[in-house]
Amino acid sequence: MPFQIIRNDITKVTCDAIVNAANKSLLGGGGVDGAIHRAAGPELLAECRTLGGCATGSAKITKGYRLPCKYVIHTVGPIWWGGFFGEKEKLESCYRNSLQLAMEHRCESIAFPLISAGVYRYPADQAVKVAIEQISTFLEDHEMMVYLVVFDRKAVSAGQKRFREIGEYIDDTYVETSMRYDIRNRKQSLPKVNTACNEADTCFYQEKMEKAPSPQAVREKSLDEILETMIDESFSEMLLRLIDEKGMKDSECYKKANIDRKLFSKIRSNPLYKPSKPTVLAFAVALELSLDETRDMLMKAGFALSHSSKFDIIVEYFIKKGNYNIFDINEALFAFDQSLLGS
Ligand code: APR
Repeated sequence: MPFQIIRNDITKVTCDAIVNAANKSLLGGGGVDGAIHRAAGPELLAECRTLGGCATGSAKITKGYRLPCKYVIHTVGPIWWGGFFGEKEKLESCYRNSLQLAMEHRCESIAFPLISAGVYRYPADQAVKVAIEQISTFLEDHEMMVYLVVFDRKAVSAGQKRFREIGEYIDDTYVETSMRYDIRNRKQSLPKVNTACNEADTCFYQEKMEKAPSPQAVREKSLDEILETMIDESFSEMLLRLIDEKGMKDSECYKKANIDRKLFSKIRSNPLYKPSKPTVLAFAVALELSLDETRDMLMKAGFALSHSSKFDIIVEYFIKKGNYNIFDINEALFAFDQSLLGS
């Protein structure tokens, strides 16, 4: 997955480069800076001394020493003075310059802390927004695995005002479902299932029966051949068809889905590829499918949307709202402690 929000100590993240929220001297400090220097060992400070400091918004690179990464990219975020002193632009430039340095050093993966959101007092929700915008813009044109490491629980949490509406939607949907399916009265409260086949079902099964090979043919054909004639359009066939129908390029689609190129190639070359549910939903979002179309696509891979899963309800909320920005969806999923969309 090209972009992931994770909760971790950045000094424990294994990737090509980690970013340090440093100060202009580059000679260490508290917060994430202190943690990185402690974990990397004194050689890091020795190399930092040779760099001559760093301006706000710029970035400089050193080796990772005892850290599980090749490089540390040191960037200096702005101090928050109410947002009237170009703080946003400076913070954006921290992300851009760090990503640029990572590219120049051929990094395939990088992890960012929430720059400026600690000692420098940048409001955490706005700092997250800047980070996500800059990282997603970068990923439109580049291939890299980018992690945003959110250490502080309060920085992205379901209790925040911006997630209130989603929280209410989850509550409403959950309540409705749990009332209907209350396990203690399951027999009385389960909705009645119509066991009689309707016309559409009958046609569907008739069609299947007509397609079904005779016992003689079964003896002559291999199981693979038989399955091929009986299975409908597969998930990957449906995906490729929809990409064409929407007039999208493959790369546009997998990037919008937050899926990496290698996984997409696997899906494209294997008509019987069995994707995970988050992968299917990521493509549904990238293709901007309606809720019904999303359900159809899920069915192809053997899944369904359920109202007893917060994950499903959150994705459903965004699709109903017509918000197909996968990074917004993933931020909300993260806030509610759910797994993220993508591979
Ligand atoms: N891993 C990941 N994130 C961390 C870690 C860690 N080990 N430690 C702290 N953080 C988070 C904080 O919770 C905050 O959200 O990193 C974010 C940035 O906080 P700070 O480290 O305080 O960085 P910043 O706000 O940019 O202030 C920079 O702090 O220590 C000094 O030398 C540094 O003067 C500079 C200033």
